[in-house]
Amino acid sequence: MRIPVIIDCDPGHDDAIALLLAFASDRLEVKAVTVVAGNQTLPKTLNNALRVLSFAGVECEVAAGAAAPLVRPLVTAPQVHGESGLDGPALPEPAFGPSGRPAWEAIIDIVRNSPQKVTLIPVGPLTNIALALLTAPDIKDNLERITLMGGAARGGNWTPAAEFNILVDPEAARVVFESGVPITMVGLDVTHEAQLYPEENEVLRAGGRVGRMVAELVDFYARFHPRFGFKGSPMHDPLAVAAVIDPTLVRTRALRVDIETQGLHTTGQTVVDFFGVTERPPNADVALEVDRERFIRMLIEAIKSYG
Ligand code: RIB
Ligand code: CA
Repeated sequence: MRIPVIIDCDPGHDDAIALLLAFASDRLEVKAVTVVAGNQTLPKTLNNALRVLSFAGVECEVAAGAAAPLVRPLVTAPQVHGESGLDGPALPEPAFGPSGRPAWEAIIDIVRNSPQKVTLIPVGPLTNIALALLTAPDIKDNLERITLMGGAARGGNWTPAAEFNILVDPEAARVVFESGVPITMVGLDVTHEAQLYPEENEVLRAGGRVGRMVAELVDFYARFHPRFGFKGSPMHDPLAVAAVIDPTLVRTRALRVDIETQGLHTTGQTVVDFFGVTERPPNADVALEVDRERFIRMLIEAIKSYG
């Protein structure tokens, strides 16, 4: 039985690679792709999702969601993903359009009517997920898990304390982490280890038409990461998808995670209670270790499978 999933994303270079991994897997049934503002504005992230899927010959429901966070002004990441949000390869215009219904309506409808519990894989700010949960709390009963790319037990990549997806919409993240739905948090603790090395990107480049396009995405995306002292490019969002395909790729611990929404220096922090000092029950399985080699092997095989 394939795992029914909905991927919520803000393409974004790593989001695009995550989508390609998901659609190449025989373990997943992607019921829909929903799009949120984050790495770039919503019109751009929507166009990017449609262009990447079209390039790969994939068609599915793509539903546009929130153009801004729940209460804060939108923060985007052009310095990482460029003005288009997907700078690098020349991608043709989309072969199909969005479904016309808002992302949260698509999520609610698909989850309510799925004969099998659905796994949500958010890899951008959590605005659409929060809106779906706030609009229709009943869907919690038919959610298997939310496996999200976001947060960090230690450190941040947008501020010293906060990871980008959580920082953009900390109020939405708080709704998700307090929802009671089982959560796997795939944060910087593992995604910074899950780097694609330059020599591995050359394997992708030689691996066919889609591989060449992905390698060109990585060529652009790689510019941003030397400042972190990395040898390669962190595959943040693909790792969240991979952790649904094969949960043994990451080692997790059930921990309490609270979201800071007030701090001058710490807003957007995922505050992870390693020693149980809050005496609040764990609400997330936090990924702390990753089998990088096995993950990258899965990713390269998936991209090559498009030809
Ligand atoms: O911090 C990394 C996350 O922010 C990834 O999802 C990347 O696509 C950006 O959205
Ligand atoms: Ca993303």
